[in-house]
Amino acid sequence: MIRYPDGNVLLRNLDRSFPVVSHGEGVYLYDTDGKRYFDGSSGALVASLGHGNKVVAEAVGAQLARVAYVNGMQFTSQAAEDAAKKLCALAPKGLARAAFLGSGSEAVEAALKFARQLCVERAEGDRGKIVARTPGYHGNTLFALSASGRPHYKKWFGPFLSEVLTISAPYAYRGDYGADHYAAELDARIKAAGPETVCAFIFEPVIGSSAGAATPPKGYFEAVREVCTKHGVLIIADEVLCGAGRTGSFFASSHPDLGALAPDIIVLGKGLSGGYVPTSAVIVREDHLAEMKKGSGYFMHAQTYLHAPSMAASVLATLDYMQKHDVVGNAARVGKVLQSELRERMLPLSKVGNVAGIGMLAGVEFVADKAAKTPFARKEKVVERFVQAAFDAGLIVWPNTGHADGTNGDLVMVGPPLIASEPEVKALVSLLADVTKKFFS
Ligand SMILES: Cc1ncc(COP(=O)(O)O)c(C=O)c1O
Repeated sequence: MIRYPDGNVLLRNLDRSFPVVSHGEGVYLYDTDGKRYFDGSSGALVASLGHGNKVVAEAVGAQLARVAYVNGMQFTSQAAEDAAKKLCALAPKGLARAAFLGSGSEAVEAALKFARQLCVERAEGDRGKIVARTPGYHGNTLFALSASGRPHYKKWFGPFLSEVLTISAPYAYRGDYGADHYAAELDARIKAAGPETVCAFIFEPVIGSSAGAATPPKGYFEAVREVCTKHGVLIIADEVLCGAGRTGSFFASSHPDLGALAPDIIVLGKGLSGGYVPTSAVIVREDHLAEMKKGSGYFMHAQTYLHAPSMAASVLATLDYMQKHDVVGNAARVGKVLQSELRERMLPLSKVGNVAGIGMLAGVEFVADKAAKTPFARKEKVVERFVQAAFDAGLIVWPNTGHADGTNGDLVMVGPPLIASEPEVKALVSLLADVTKKFFS
């Protein structure tokens, strides 16, 4: 165990003991004391292929041995070409160009900058405003954080952040409105700001931890698409958490049960490389690139590791593996079992207010009073203590706080690797139910 002030790593929690991970295999992680953990949240919803996948590890290693790095202004690589081709073949029609970056936050920033650049190319330089949703999360770099509905971060970093327009995100447990309600709110917000000043609307097609895997109401995608098209506002689908197969469809924004969004830009990260190399991607429309070609002739985004061959190789190997082993199909099939088991086993428990989600992505929300949906007081640190109790019992889940009212709210995200089998997800839910009963008894 490592605990501050041991060692020299800048630990994220200065009051917690950290086990040292030894290795992983499938849905399990092992620490150096030999303790086994069920990775019930794929870390931070990342390890889509599970742990110890030699095929992906060897493909990345082989790329590193051939060439580790070239600069994206000087070379492309076969790995980048092949990964982009494979990724764009999965994307909705017209989205045919991909850029690879290192994290979800970077990709969100690149997507927002791409949208802004396009406005300038079109001589619509007044379009400088972004619409985002609350609750919502788009990353921890400064503009991505500005677009995130996370009041507790704003308290600390407010002076560094930019103004972003916000509307409410569909979060059925705490306000069940239809698609038209949200579309009208978006329309009103754009009109009030002045449509000619709005650049893009960014949102998570299925919300990640900030609202416990809440799915949108029927018709939401189509309704917001119509509003954005009417006002010439670009749509950015942030699929960093919900994309790359997590919902049982490669893109959440075209999941057959949710609708068809037709975004202008899609952002991916996390599960896109299964965590084998830190990698994210931005996918954009070919016709938008044609406009840039006629205008400035550049995609104005310079980062040292843009398109790095190792990142591209990890995407290529992950997508190959997913296709060969029908990993997304498995996420759809086993995801149905996960969703029904969670509802059946967790909802009857006294402090479980809600279970939401789709595919291999779920949120379980804890409340002090089920009938009134009253959250626990933040000072009780319920979810922090719950996650530690689960960890001690050998189960990893991902916590979130603040979703109920900006301060209070306790939920855990459940999202096992997409390769998990039906018996494995049943074992996961059993473990979670046991921890929950014990914790709240
Ligand atoms: C929806 C969404 N967008 C962006 C990000 C930022 O990704 P990263 O932490 O890799 O920078 C996250 C991370 O949790 C996310 O859930």
